[in-house]
Amino acid sequence: MKMAQNEQFAVTQKEFNKTVLVTGGAGFIGSHVVISLVEKYPDWHIINLDKLDYCSSLKNLAPVQHRANYTFIKGDVCSPYFINHLFETQNIDIVFHFAAQSHVENSFRYPAKFLHVNVDGTRVLLNAARDSGVQRFIHVSTDEVYGDRVDRAFDELCPRRPTNPYSVSKATAECTALSYWNKHELPVIVTRSNNVYGPRQYFEKVVPRFISLLQQNKKCTIQGSGLQSRHFLYIDDVTEAFMTVMEKGILGEIYNIGTNCELPVTQLARDLIKTMKGLSLDTDIDDWMQFVEDRPCQDQGYPLISHKMHGLGWRPRVSWEEGIRTTIQWYKENPHHWLDTEALQQHSQPLRA
Ligand SMILES: NC(=O)c1ccc[n+]([C@@H]2O[C@H](COP(=O)([O-])OP(=O)(O)OC[C@H]3O[C@@H](n4cnc5c(N)ncnc54)[C@H](O)[C@@H]3O)[C@@H](O)[C@H]2O)c1
Repeated sequence: MKMAQNEQFAVTQKEFNKTVLVTGGAGFIGSHVVISLVEKYPDWHIINLDKLDYCSSLKNLAPVQHRANYTFIKGDVCSPYFINHLFETQNIDIVFHFAAQSHVENSFRYPAKFLHVNVDGTRVLLNAARDSGVQRFIHVSTDEVYGDRVDRAFDELCPRRPTNPYSVSKATAECTALSYWNKHELPVIVTRSNNVYGPRQYFEKVVPRFISLLQQNKKCTIQGSGLQSRHFLYIDDVTEAFMTVMEKGILGEIYNIGTNCELPVTQLARDLIKTMKGLSLDTDIDDWMQFVEDRPCQDQGYPLISHKMHGLGWRPRVSWEEGIRTTIQWYKENPHHWLDTEALQQHSQPLRA
């Protein structure tokens, strides 16, 4: 099998103390982590590998694009020849694996694609990393692997009970990653975080979707009853959590990255309507909400116990009020960052079966 033309690369070999590979670094969380790594570790080489899927943008990397310790490579984690070649030639010390199909609603329509990218892509990376002397392979998973909320919060020992094709693919991927630790001593660490929000997130996710709809004077479309809740972590806190896991995380461990900031989706919409439309009367706020068909299955929430992360010295620091104010401000100042609003249109409509 040959590499596709856009997967051929030549990285200048300079003297760096470490090389970090970030997959999915042109997406939301990955781009914030890449920027943080490039700025925090000027003597490390940070390679951003991304396929540049519909939800990604190299504009996300503008602050570091000309830095000497940053390299972007366009490529697919599912391509074994390309990934093997990357590991054979780049002396990679640390891997952050963010690349994924990440939007739950799409997973109901394209389950095979989710399994392919999230499971096969992870296996290809793990396989290539196995014999290459990698010191840390940080596999980025999600709170959704726990499935629907039970009568108590989830700690890392709770069973995986994924309920949708996205969470099934993520649960399978993290089992695969942990099997490489157990069987091959590949130094894997798994993270499971709550919902993340902040500047530069693609429109399809709930916070930027509501903000963008309100910016266009459209109603917030709420799936089902809207009583389902999510825990919201600000992007800077999550980025800090990934730095902590890289520096202090114990190999073979799973870390919940959670927050107490829990909001029912209707409350999220109300908060955004109040702030962005300057309304306070309930009846006025209700006029900006439209209830649409629910997802085929909808988990009610994912409360996490994050004592293990707290033990490493990490805690979320940004309040919801501060985080959402900064996020709204960013979308106001950057209305053209995401030129393609197809996802926004698509998700304003009730879900098709
Ligand atoms: N956003 C959240 O709230 C959240 C919460 C918990 C966990 N996660 C996990 O964090 C990771 C990043 O999430 P995100 O919100 O930044 O996602 P995102 O959709 O913004 O970014 C995913 C990135 O992966 C890239 N990608 C997709 N398929 C690829 C492939 N085959 N090869 C190379 N690159 C590919 C895309 O181009 C994109 O840049 C995902 O693994 C997701 O499951 C996200």
